[in-house]
Amino acid sequence: MDFRRHFSGKVIIVTGASSGIGLAAAKLFGAAGARVVMASRSLEKMQALSREVSPSPENVLCVRCDVSIEADCRRLIEETVARFGRIDILVNNAGVSMRATIRDLDLSVLRRLMDVNYWGTVYCTKYALPYLLESRGQVVGVVSVAGYAALPARSGYSASKHAVRGFLDALRMEHLRDGLGVLVFAPGYTASNVRNAALLADGTPQGETPLDENRLMSAEKCASYLALALARRRSEMILTPLGKATVAFHHVLPRLTDRLTCRFIAREKDSPVK
Ligand SMILES: NC(=O)c1ccc[n+]([C@@H]2O[C@H](COP(=O)([O-])OP(=O)(O)OC[C@H]3O[C@@H](n4cnc5c(N)ncnc54)[C@H](OP(=O)(O)O)[C@@H]3O)[C@@H](O)[C@H]2O)c1
Repeated sequence: MDFRRHFSGKVIIVTGASSGIGLAAAKLFGAAGARVVMASRSLEKMQALSREVSPSPENVLCVRCDVSIEADCRRLIEETVARFGRIDILVNNAGVSMRATIRDLDLSVLRRLMDVNYWGTVYCTKYALPYLLESRGQVVGVVSVAGYAALPARSGYSASKHAVRGFLDALRMEHLRDGLGVLVFAPGYTASNVRNAALLADGTPQGETPLDENRLMSAEKCASYLALALARRRSEMILTPLGKATVAFHHVLPRLTDRLTCRFIAREKDSPVK
């Protein structure tokens, strides 16, 4: 698909644009002629990467933003509008994962997951909404298959992604007649830094991935599906055959799916699930 037709000239905010799916999406939108706002906590890293997003510096804005802080999200939207005068697409992609059982974990892990994944999406969406309504634009929540069928040792992750889905599904219904596009986008396993950064029971990052990342979908491929879903103004997209099968079986055969999912997660290296 020629993405230029859909994204050229559009103002697109991508949170979590310093790495993985967000960075790949920022590059795709930049290559398609969009004006891209990159947001994350790593300003210098994004500034270094911004040349790969667009060769024209005037088309990229990098904003330091911790999405768990409401004032940061408000400033992200204000700086975007001050620079580009409008917002066409908001991609709520910033996220953090975890790996610990409920019995073992510190409650601060669950709070952090909700603060980043859920509240980060809520803050950015709420402040961007007037501009998105004006442009008849689109808002995306990058959730996960775990936002449909929970995973053991990912309680806070699964809960936060379910919460984002509920929030955005409600938003879509509230604006059915306003031309606002609301997309719930659920990648399956995708190669990125997410498992290195995932929080352990005490809230420290686990620092390594238990999976062979080379065997997973690439972040670039995932970003191209995201672009496709946006171009078609889809309201939902679930990725990977395993992800689609998990969601479908979870509805039809929930207890069997629980057991198979547990067995799958227990097979991971050093899994906290036995
Ligand atoms: N990879 C997968 O297998 C997979 C599967 C399903 C869903 N997802 C979802 O896809 C999204 C992107 O993840 P990824 O896989 O690309 O992981 P990643 O490589 O770890 O990227 C995560 C991004 O989120 C940013 N981030 C984390 N905490 C933040 C905060 N408090 N404020 C602002 N930005 C923050 C990180 O930037 P800084 O650390 O520089 O701030 C980074 O840019 C996440 O929502 C994740 O849950 C991933």
